[in-house]
Amino acid sequence: MDKIKIIGGNQLNGKIYISGAKNAALPLVCASLLTEEELILKNVPQLSDITFLNKLLEFMGNKITKNVYEENGYEAQSFTYKANEIKELVAPYDFVRKMRASYYVLGPLLARFRHVEFSLPGGCAIGARPIDIHLSSLEQMGANIEIKNGYVVADAPNGLKGAHIIFSKASVGATCNILMAATLANGITKIENAAKEPEITDLIDLLNKMGAKIQGRGTSILTIEGVQSLKGAQHHVLADRIEAGSYAIAAAITKGRIELINARAEHLQQPLRVLEKMGVGVEVTENSIIVDGTNKTIIGEDVYTDYYPGFPTDLQAQFMALMTVAEGASLVTESIWENRFMHVPELCRMGANINIHGHASAIVRGVKKLSGAPVMATDLRASFALILAGLIADGETIVNRVYHLDRGYEKLEEKLKAVGANVERIKAED
Ligand code: UD1
Repeated sequence: MDKIKIIGGNQLNGKIYISGAKNAALPLVCASLLTEEELILKNVPQLSDITFLNKLLEFMGNKITKNVYEENGYEAQSFTYKANEIKELVAPYDFVRKMRASYYVLGPLLARFRHVEFSLPGGCAIGARPIDIHLSSLEQMGANIEIKNGYVVADAPNGLKGAHIIFSKASVGATCNILMAATLANGITKIENAAKEPEITDLIDLLNKMGAKIQGRGTSILTIEGVQSLKGAQHHVLADRIEAGSYAIAAAITKGRIELINARAEHLQQPLRVLEKMGVGVEVTENSIIVDGTNKTIIGEDVYTDYYPGFPTDLQAQFMALMTVAEGASLVTESIWENRFMHVPELCRMGANINIHGHASAIVRGVKKLSGAPVMATDLRASFALILAGLIADGETIVNRVYHLDRGYEKLEEKLKAVGANVERIKAED
């Protein structure tokens, strides 16, 4: 397995181009299953999660072509999907095991083909991650759902029908899945307590371009009037707010200055506010955010993760890395996932002073410096937190299990090197 080696101490300065959002692209890719016409997605990030999902869709019969093009001097990629000959309605364990978000095929396939079989994903490092809200909502829309041999087998012989659904939690995945299912259902579906993340708004924009009738964009009540069929469309994936937030902290922690090209400040209001409270300079321009930690003293600050527009859980680990070297104490409370402090022992091995209380709170007391060490993380964002710690630690840090980072950070070493980091990938020998 590849590793990343970092020699800490360099101040990072320059520009970083923010890629298309992974969590937006995943449901957008699956929306291609809703139509027999061509769907073109531009600014799709080059990530292993996308590669896995494309492989699953190809296995089902979706024809996919890739095109590399230039956008603002940056190499971007687009995919054209054509799902006019879907022959396989089963998402096997081998795909789902590698890519949890392959559950996004559930809603589109059930709505269009009235049948789907989907291997249950199981838990993952950050929590149990059930899909009960997805399944009970589809049942409310008339689907028969059975669990057989580890698979969800769902049928809607007469098609899905509109329903009034109230989510028990504002789940991102369930909102995307039920939105897609409802576009082709018979009648009107109303979702209450829907998630409001920007990635959902991006999906609504694409679905409406395809001919769907969705109202309530950006709010927690979505109304979808089902249509007979959807048509092809072209769409540009929105910029990744979590990638932008991660590199913003890279600027702050190294006391450098980075311009995040394409980053959207309106999607990062809470994290930017926290950065400012911690003493970091933030400037918003027409198409970028400039984060300036030059000569700044970082001060501890409390963070409570919550549903959007609250503070994103996907930036919790990275902010914690910054807090380890802040002046004073910071309290981090994780309200979304039950097991999302696995980066804590690794940060402590690098010299951080963090105490976990219960399973939801951690107190971080700032230390003067961190020291390099071999570390490993069990999830994507935690891995980036270790990269951040490595950037300021004395000496060498080796981050193991780089495949986590490859799931969610496009051209990671390239982007970091371009702003002055001493970082390199050590390729696995086998
Ligand atoms: C998405 C993001 C993930 C982010 C999370 C919360 C993708 C691919 N992943 O994950 O990076 O951390 O949103 O912002 O977009 N829940 C249930 N039953 C369900 C579904 C969810 O109880 O059927 C619970 C979960 O256990 C969790 C909470 O609801 O406690 C939020 O989960 P959800 O928003 O669904 O997360 P994902 O869509 O899996």
